[in-house]
Amino acid sequence: MIDPIPFAARVAHILSAVLLLGGLFYAWNLSKHNILPAQPDKGFRPAVWILILVQFITGVYNLMLRMPVPKEYHMLFGVKFLLVLHIAAVSILMVKPATTPEKRGRMLQGLAVSGILVIVISAALRAIGNA
Ligand code: HEM
Repeated sequence: MIDPIPFAARVAHILSAVLLLGGLFYAWNLSKHNILPAQPDKGFRPAVWILILVQFITGVYNLMLRMPVPKEYHMLFGVKFLLVLHIAAVSILMVKPATTPEKRGRMLQGLAVSGILVIVISAALRAIGNA
């Protein structure tokens, strides 16, 4: 039988990761062709804040459910957390109205790389946590 609360938390964690990274990846592609809207902050800003918040709440809950974990898990989780902090901080700065289009392009490139690394690390955490 599926336990509904951990299931809902997992769905929310994966869904918000897909929506956040998907949105950033799309914006990065537009910025490479200089067709990113002049004010992406208008449409995307509330979503960025909400998705990051959901990531943190469901992520902490996921972590509590996983405990106790082996020491390699702690080490990898530390790396994931630093990358996630980078994603959260840069995404928030990226959707600030004052950020220039050139700067947005550079930020989006870094976000795409960090996003891929976070997905790889999350998959590794799942493998280690289940071992
Ligand atoms: C950009 C932000 C983030 C992304 C893209 C992301 C992505 C993911 C993905 C794809 C998974 C695998 C889901 C699954 O198979 O159940 C996962 C699992 C997990 N995430 Fe995140 N996450 C993010 C932020 C966070 C944060 C902020 C925390 C904690 C504070 C966190 C803690 C966890 C934990 C504990 C797991 C379970 C790993 C395991 O199976 O042992 N995540 N995350």
